[in-house]
Amino acid sequence: MDWGMANRLSSLMGPDGHCFFLPIDHGYFQGPTTCLERPGETIAPLLPHADALFCTRGVLRACVDPKTRVPIILRVTGGNSIICKDLSNESLTTSIEEVIRLNVAAVGISVYIGSEYEHQTIMNLAEMVNDCEDYGIPVMAVTAVGKELEKRDARYLGLACRICAEMGAKVVKTYWCEDFDKVVDRCPVPVVIAGGPICETPLECIEFVHDGMQKGAIGINLGRNVWKHEHPVPMMKALKAVIHNNGTPQDALEIYEQSKAAGE
Ligand code: 5RP
Repeated sequence: MDWGMANRLSSLMGPDGHCFFLPIDHGYFQGPTTCLERPGETIAPLLPHADALFCTRGVLRACVDPKTRVPIILRVTGGNSIICKDLSNESLTTSIEEVIRLNVAAVGISVYIGSEYEHQTIMNLAEMVNDCEDYGIPVMAVTAVGKELEKRDARYLGLACRICAEMGAKVVKTYWCEDFDKVVDRCPVPVVIAGGPICETPLECIEFVHDGMQKGAIGINLGRNVWKHEHPVPMMKALKAVIHNNGTPQDALEIYEQSKAAGE
């Protein structure tokens, strides 16, 4: 791997090679979704705990201080909204010149395997990998399922992750599922776990993240279970203990309760 590519990738991880990416890109199809109405205010207390921030160029320019030390993963696909029929009809939204101008550490692209627009979204990934390889910029593929959340099983996610890796993604983001080790083992590049809709309890979220890490994920790209939570900073601290300190779910829950009691 070229030095620039390796340097950008390592900037996204802690010294342990693990990562906690904070995604706030949801507005690209959900608009002013609950708790991200004013993204700058939402992320202010959370950024010190994140290894990277995943967002669109619009939110980056309007809501993120350019003096931030937190590396940016730029979302570069879109083109639809939550009220459209098929969320998979995505195109590239952002040029390689813009990616370079914004000095980001990586880009993120959704790929909808099995959808009507499967071919188009795989080609979006391939095209961005072609452009990004020239400049040493890593591409994170997002295995997206749109509104079909029931697709999230090891067979489907294993297929989707492997295709993304074969297309040249340097990291693949996918949902946690039962038998997650099968997904990770068959994907030749690192896998990060997406959060999905908010869980009923903090422990439920902590437990799937812990299981995913035990089964080989290098970290998480988890948004709603943090910033939609009643206590976002305690949630982040708890999950960070699992990601970076090999904490058990019980350790993480204690950190959550302590941070909550401290009014964080
Ligand atoms: C949205 C995304 C998000 O980055 C991803 O879904 C992770 O966020 P969450 O934990 O809220 O699911 O790609 O399009």
